[in-house]
Amino acid sequence: MSAAPGAAASTLSERSASCAAGEGLEPARRELEAIWARGREFLGTELAVMGGAMTWVSERNLVAAIANAGGFGVIACGAMSPDLLSAEIAGTAALTARPFGVNLITMHPQLLELIDVCGHHHVGHIVLAGGIPTREAIARIARGGARVLCFAPALALARKLVRLGADAIVIEGSEAGGHTGPVSTAVLAQEVLPHLRQVPVFAAGGIGRGEAILSYLEMGASGVQLGTRFVCAHESIAHPRFKQAFIRAAARDAVLSVQLDPRFSVIPVRALANAGTERFLATQRQVIDRFARGELTQKDAQLEIEHFWAGALRRAVIDGDVETGSLMAGQSVGLVTREQSTAEILDELVGQALAVLAGRRGPRPPHGETPGSRDSAG
Ligand SMILES: Cc1cc2nc3c(=O)[nH]c(=O)nc-3n(C[C@H](O)[C@H](O)[C@H](O)COP(=O)(O)O)c2cc1C
Repeated sequence: MSAAPGAAASTLSERSASCAAGEGLEPARRELEAIWARGREFLGTELAVMGGAMTWVSERNLVAAIANAGGFGVIACGAMSPDLLSAEIAGTAALTARPFGVNLITMHPQLLELIDVCGHHHVGHIVLAGGIPTREAIARIARGGARVLCFAPALALARKLVRLGADAIVIEGSEAGGHTGPVSTAVLAQEVLPHLRQVPVFAAGGIGRGEAILSYLEMGASGVQLGTRFVCAHESIAHPRFKQAFIRAAARDAVLSVQLDPRFSVIPVRALANAGTERFLATQRQVIDRFARGELTQKDAQLEIEHFWAGALRRAVIDGDVETGSLMAGQSVGLVTREQSTAEILDELVGQALAVLAGRRGPRPPHGETPGSRDSAG
């Protein structure tokens, strides 16, 4: 892409002003703006919708496309070196003049250097994923001038992270694609949103339509984070076979990794079932048998299980190996039905939320009555 920074950017209002669907939605639009004002202000965006970082998928093209369409894109650093991350940030900034963030994995051996790279590029927001970050990491981000978002899988942990200095919390439920916690977004939202008001909270996991976005906002979320829904964006560099697998899949095809033996832990990851999933089970069985026969120590057995998926996400996303690669996907994959531009995806989500709000403004029966209630009351 050779576009000048922000050249491809347009606001949602500009896009919808030119289509019939935008007519008559102004009051609903103002209402939505008010509901997610805190999230928009925090992110510095038109829409409080974050494109959750997806390793190999969330690189400069998708991140800039989300930013240019009014959302908040997040670069997935994954296992990148500081130099690679630096190049990716610079590449993204060349494609958009709008804010975007960087997702860093807390157990990355060069975490502190990666934080400094973000500071050098004046990245405004850093998302820390993959475990509880240290006070030192959070403080270093603050010193570099960025805001820090942390994942919290429970209310107590969310409170602890706020005490450690987190500026915002992401609650990601088990419906989500990739590494995921044990509790659903629907339950986490009820556990956290009514009680955590000090900082903005973003809901993630299983969100595929605007009605769901609105419902979390109305429960108290300041915004949302979606990953799966953006994989099949035109601007996503995911391999066409990876995208096809998403388009074909139903919600129930996005399954959690299975742990066969309580002694050998398996990190819970949600992905589309494929031949690799079967092989993973077979490998666990084999490793457990070898351990039982004394051919492997417990530590080596655990390492063999952990190494099974090494490089598997790259193989699927970049090389298109959908048979043995890792097809990380959330349950909302069932709502991905075609390739669309990032702007279309965001417009669709916002349009669905607006339709609910606009529908509520239509003529309503007097209080206490539902259509037909007079007849049934006799
Ligand atoms: C293919 C894929 C890769 C992901 N990689 C990461 C990652 O590197 N870091 C991270 O914090 N979350 C990662 N996630 C989670 C997303 O950032 C996001 O929170 C999640 O997809 C939201 O749930 P949804 O899939 O139901 O929309 C990944 C998700 C997917 C589908």
